[in-house]
Order: sequence, then C-alpha cells, then structure tokens
Amino acid sequence: MQSGSGAPSADGIWHSLRLLSHPGAEALDVLDDGVIVVQDGSVAWTGLGSDLPSRYAALPRHDGGGALATPGLVDCHTHLVYGGQRANEFAMRLAGASYEEVARAGGGIVSTVRATRDASEDELFASSARRLQTLLAEGVCAIEVKSGYGLALEHERKQLRVARRLADAFGVTVKTTFLGAHALPPEYTGRSAEYIRMVCEIMLPALAREGLVDAVDVFCEKIAFSLDETEQVFRAAQALGLPVKLHAEQLSDMDGAALAARYGALSCDHIEHLSAKGIEAMRQAGTVAVLLPGAFYTLRDTQVPPISALRQAGVPMAVSTDHNPGTSPALSLLLMVNMACTLFRLTVPEAVAGVTQHAARALGLQHSHGAIIVGQAANFVLWNLQDPAELAYWFGQRPARTIVRQGKIRIIDSTEAS
Ligand code: NIG
Ligand code: FE
Repeated sequence: MQSGSGAPSADGIWHSLRLLSHPGAEALDVLDDGVIVVQDGSVAWTGLGSDLPSRYAALPRHDGGGALATPGLVDCHTHLVYGGQRANEFAMRLAGASYEEVARAGGGIVSTVRATRDASEDELFASSARRLQTLLAEGVCAIEVKSGYGLALEHERKQLRVARRLADAFGVTVKTTFLGAHALPPEYTGRSAEYIRMVCEIMLPALAREGLVDAVDVFCEKIAFSLDETEQVFRAAQALGLPVKLHAEQLSDMDGAALAARYGALSCDHIEHLSAKGIEAMRQAGTVAVLLPGAFYTLRDTQVPPISALRQAGVPMAVSTDHNPGTSPALSLLLMVNMACTLFRLTVPEAVAGVTQHAARALGLQHSHGAIIVGQAANFVLWNLQDPAELAYWFGQRPARTIVRQGKIRIIDSTEAS
C-alpha cells in the first residue's frame, strides 16, 4: 500500500466499469458500461460510456475490465488511536464478567487510558498507522477518529494530533471527534461534576482553538456520564459552533438520543436500547443511526437495535467498526456489513448504504464522500466481485482490486491494476 503523496495520479478515463455511484438503501442500481472521469484528482464526469463528452477523449484511459466500482467506504465511528490492547478482558468476559463488571474492576476504558497516557505521540502514530492501513486496504477512504483515551488536555491533544497526522501521511479524509467525556479519569473519582466542568471550560475550547476538533461526542451511560452532564458538554460544543454526536442507549435507555436530536446531532451510535421517542426525535432532526455490530457481537449482547422501527421512520442507518480495544477490536468494515445483515437483519442495500452514503452523512461529509460526486476528490474502489451483494456476503476476503483515494491510485492487486 502506498501512502501519502508518492502514489500515482488517478487522472484519466476509468471505463468499462459496472458503476454503483450512489448506493441507496432501497436498491443497488448498477450502471453497465459506466465511466468515471478524473481530472486534477477530482471527479469531472460520470455516466454511461456511450455518453462520454468528446472533450475528455485525449485523457489517459484506465480499463476497468468490467469491474464493479463503488464509492470509497466510510468508517464513521472509530477509536483508532490508543495505546496497548485488552485481550485480558476478552478472557474475563469469556469467564462470565460483564462489560460493566470489567469496568468497575478497574479494567475497561480506564486501562486503555493508562496505556495511552504512557505512549508518546510517535508511538501512538505507529500503532494507529498499522490499524489504519488494514482498514484502508479494504477500501476505506474516510474515517472518523475519536479521542477519549487521554482524558487530560495533553493526552487528548496527543490523540487528536495523531489523527490529523494520519490524514496527511496516508492521504485519507479523517474527521476528528473530541470524546473527553468518555470515562471519568481515576484522578477525578467522585468528582464527576468537576471533570465535566474541566472538559467544557478548558479541554474542549483549547483543542477547538487548535483546530483539532471537528465534532464532539459523549458516552452517556450509567457507567459513564449522565444526561445532565451530556447536555453540559453539548452546550459547550454548541457555543463553539461544533456539531455533536452521542454514544447513546448502548447498555440502557438513558433518553440520550432525544437530547442529542434536540442539539441537531449528526448521529446517535450503538442505540440497542433506543425508544420510540428517541427514534421520532432522530427522524425530526435528521440524525443518523449508527449501528455497531462489532461491539454487539463482542459483548455478546442480545438486545438488537430497533431496526424495523428505524426503517419505518426513515431514519438513515449507518454501519461502522467502532474500532476500539475493549468492545470492538474489529479492523474490517466489510465484516461489519456482513454482521449488520446477519445479526441486525439489515438488507444488503441498507448495509452498503450504511458504509457509504449514510456513513458520510453521519460525519457531515455527504456532499463530498459516500457517493461518486462530480467536483469532489476522487474516492472509489474497483472490486474483484460480480454482484454488489457480495460486499455483504463474503467475510475474511480482501476483495478490493484498485482503490482511488483522494485522486491517487492505491494499488492493492498489482496484477489487476492499469
Ligand atoms: O464505543 N461505549 C463506549 N466506548 C467504546 C468502548 C471503549 C472501550 O471499552 O475502550 C464503544 O464501545
Ligand atoms: Fe464507540
């Protein structure tokens, strides 16, 4: 995999594609004889080969050989930057401990906080870069990265700086989310109100000023922060003009989704225990429901998110890895697509839209990512697949043949690359 600026330009006519340019949740409509014209790294034109305007005729040609082509994938919820790993907790849970019990026993998020604080920025960069490369090799072209394992200004800054560095080093769109209200750091035990005040008055304004924050998230849960504390953080975000999102109703119904919707949240994520009231609030606000089957699976959860009610209400559903060392050590977005279908009963078009158009919307990127859009940087994938349903069907495969990310060719299978 080539990173950053060394990769070759994708400029030219990409022809003989079976083109799925706008994956919709209703159906995956493929255009045979599809063409994408890339100029100066951006999509200049897309449509049927027979309609290709003659002004492009002199551009170099890339023969797609009949490959299925889709927009680059978007992983809209990750905790990619952290120190250490938590395989020991996997064993504890296998022996019967719950996520809450592990957290209360001093494991959980706080143990990753220790490892993240101990790591230097360069160490965090190196470990995160390896994980990012795995996701990119599958066709991810945009990714969200949350902080939340530093829980102190200098360490939250370190995480977010690494996220920005990854974007530059790998030529990938990275949206950063400040998750200072992820867990109560040990030095604030019994002083939750004080910690939240510090998050709102010191950490968030400082990091926003440094240009490190694209959105603000909170873990609203009995083992994390209350509804009232969540609202304080949302108010601070609003005052800075930053959009919000929420880890909502994962373990219990906290009424967090309705609150987040009142603040115009981009997304509510997890939502296994989401109520009818929460769904209605999300519908009205246009908030995306982000489904995280990797965490559901790892925690051996049994409470499935209310998929049919979300579908009926017309709430857009996205699917993401929730990559994190505790509840979802997943580095395959396509496996999440498969799990969203198998575990949550999404249809194949819903699951594919969930990692393209709807995932882009969960990051506020719907005008530039998740579809092949004229005027925007070229982000698309040519697959070694016949039928778009295969994106959901296989697991453990790496079916990406050629990846065009930010207008550059990132070759996966060099025997197939043009
Ligand atoms: O999205 N729910 C809270 N945050 C993460 C878990 C983080 C951890 O356990 O380290 C999640 O599942
Ligand atoms: Fe998460």
